[in-house]
This record gives sequence, structure tokens and C-alpha cells, in this order.
Amino acid sequence: MKKIDKTVLITGGCGFIGSHLVRLFVTKYPTYKIVNLDAMTYAGNQDNLNDVEKEENYVYVHGSICDKHLVDKLFKMYDFDYVIHMAAESHVDRSMTNPTVFVDTNVMGTINLLNFVRKYWAEGNKERRFFNMITDEIFGSLSIDDPPFDENTPIDPHSPYSTSKAAQYLFGKTYFESYGLPIISLCCGNAIGGYQYLEKLVPLTIDRLINKQEIPIYGEGKQMRDWTNVHDICNAIDILVHDGSVGEMYCIGGDACITNIDLVKMIIREYCVLTNNKVVEYEKLIKFIVDPRGKSHDFRYDLNHDKITNELGWMPKYTVKESVHETVEWYLENTEWCEALKKRDNSYDNWVMSHYGAKLKEKK
Ligand code: DAU
Repeated sequence: MKKIDKTVLITGGCGFIGSHLVRLFVTKYPTYKIVNLDAMTYAGNQDNLNDVEKEENYVYVHGSICDKHLVDKLFKMYDFDYVIHMAAESHVDRSMTNPTVFVDTNVMGTINLLNFVRKYWAEGNKERRFFNMITDEIFGSLSIDDPPFDENTPIDPHSPYSTSKAAQYLFGKTYFESYGLPIISLCCGNAIGGYQYLEKLVPLTIDRLINKQEIPIYGEGKQMRDWTNVHDICNAIDILVHDGSVGEMYCIGGDACITNIDLVKMIIREYCVLTNNKVVEYEKLIKFIVDPRGKSHDFRYDLNHDKITNELGWMPKYTVKESVHETVEWYLENTEWCEALKKRDNSYDNWVMSHYGAKLKEKK
């Protein structure tokens, strides 16, 4: 048993970005004890961490960030040096149908964690840090000609999801200003990579290509997103955990802002190359549907990463094409992961039926 010199709480470590981060920290830092607190809601998946679950510096705790008794116990037991708060309700479309759960988790859950940070970290000489994971969606929407968002862009969220994340960000900022707590805000754009729950655009598209089902594009697919490889995001977090400045926000952008339709076509091309299929045939699967986000659908997100690049030397290493290649390959190699997720309960099928059913003539 190695001597432990840091204890790290990662919340939401069974989710998409969270599981990549847990894996990175467990393998890269054998002298850090990594405690993963995850409520295992529909998007959490313990299969994401099969490869590290037996490591001696890893502990999984099943529970909610909203559970006062549990969070208190964990802070007392582990005397955390770092808290990396990744747990969240994160799907914009679901936030339109059920906003309350987004407030419960993203706002109330964050406040609960911050209250224990306040209780346990107010005194002491340890170099502690709380990392608050937020999103570029808090800044609202850009037009085609606007410069990308940066750390000084005013907040202007447009969906229940982004509003809950804006509140999460503001509470972190306020706890830094009011109580001097060591908070750092991590602002990311759209992440791309393996292990992402199937409801989001990239895995949804790949899974439906594999099953030769229609691919739903909202409106005309002209909205633009900045795609950052999940490994690049985790490397940025690693750098910020060790060298970020307290009280600051850092934008982690991917230099990869493209339209949804171009991204989907890129995925189709990559899929066809890897599976030796004809692009024209698979492009026929694209189905433009009435935009369920309506007027609140933000047109463009794009993140300027100059601050973290100039201060700490981080740059995204993956182009969007490389990320698409790696991700399509991952889902093709992990069809069992996708099928297990669908079989686990009916939540994915139920979501697809209720959200797309009539528009895609989806059948049970
Ligand atoms: O920008 C960061 C955010 O990126 C994160 O904070 C969110 O947690 C994450 O979900 C993501 O939000 P988006 O709404 O951009 O991701 P999503 O994959 O749901 O959608 C990407 C774009 O694709 C968006 O413009 C809506 C569109 N879309 C999405 C789905 C699921 C479609 O056209 N068809 C679809 O079926």
C-alpha cells in the first residue's frame, strides 16, 4: 500500500467526463486517494470504470451530492485536499421537460458541497481547492461574427439547464468572495469521446448509424458548437488542479467550432470509412426534425482558451477530425457497452420514444 499524500473527491465520476478524469487521476497519481461520489442516475455507468475499480487508491461511494449526512461523513473521513465537482444533470432537452431536477442537483447539490467546504476548510494550512465544473452555455448564444466567449463574457443563459449551471457558477464565485474559499471555475464547451451516454448528439448519431436508424437533426442543423476532446479537457483539469489560481475561471475551448450538420456528416464519413460502407447510403439516414428547443436553441458556442494557454501552457491537442475518428472507433469497438446501457433499464428507450418517437416513426 503506497503512502497517500492527497485525497481527492470527484463527484459524478461514473459519468462521461467524470469517468475519464477518475481514470486519469487513479492511474497517474498512485499516491492520491480518489473518492468517486456518484448517485448513479440514468446517465451514470459503473461499467465506465471497470478497468480501475480494483485499484487500491480508488474508492467508489454510491450517493448523492445533495445528501447532507453522507457528504459530511466523507469530508470528515477523508479530509479532502481537492474536490472536483463534475456531478450534474447535463442534458438541455431533458431540462426543458423537467427543470426542477436540474435545480435540485446543479444548484442545491453544489450548495450542499460548498457548505461542507466552508465547514471543513475554513481553517487549516492545507493547500485545498474546489473545482466547479460549469459550461459555456451560461454565456448564452453567439452570432456567426461574434468573437468567442471568454472569462469576461457576461452571463446570459437561455435554458433551464444553462440557468442552473449559471447559478452553480455564481454560488461558487460567491463562496470565494464571501468566505474566501479556494474555488476555481472550469468552463468547458461540448466534449467528445468514448463513454458518453447515448442521448447526446455524437453518441446518438454513431449508435443510430450502427443500427441503421434515422439520425435526427434539429431544424436545419446550422447551430455551431465548439468540440473539445475529453482527453484534452481532463488534461486541462489536471493542470488547473495543480497550478490554477484561486478565485479564477478558466475557459477550456477546443478550437473546433463547426455546424451540427457538418459534424454529423463528418461522423457519417468516418463511420463509412471504418466499416467499408457507402457514404451516400448512410447520409440518407439524416432526418431534419422540428427543433424541440425552439427559440431557446442557442445558435453558436465558441470558447477562447487564451487564458489557460498563456498562463499555463495548455492547448487542445486533438482536431475535431481526430476526435471524430477516435470516437467513432470507440463506439464501434464497444457496441456491448451501448447494448448493456440500453438493456440496464428502459430509460434510454423511453427517452427516445418520448422525445423523438412520432418525429422518427420510432418503434418499440
Ligand atoms: O456547450 C457545453 C454543453 O454541451 C454541455 O454543458 C452540455 O452538458 C452538453 O450536453 C452539450 O450541450 P448541447 O446541447 O450543445 O449538446 P447536445 O449533444 O445535446 O446537442 C448538440 C447540438 O446538436 C445542439 O445544437 C442540439 C443538436 N442536436 C442534438 C440532439 C440530441 C440535434 O440536432 N439532434 C439531436 O438529436
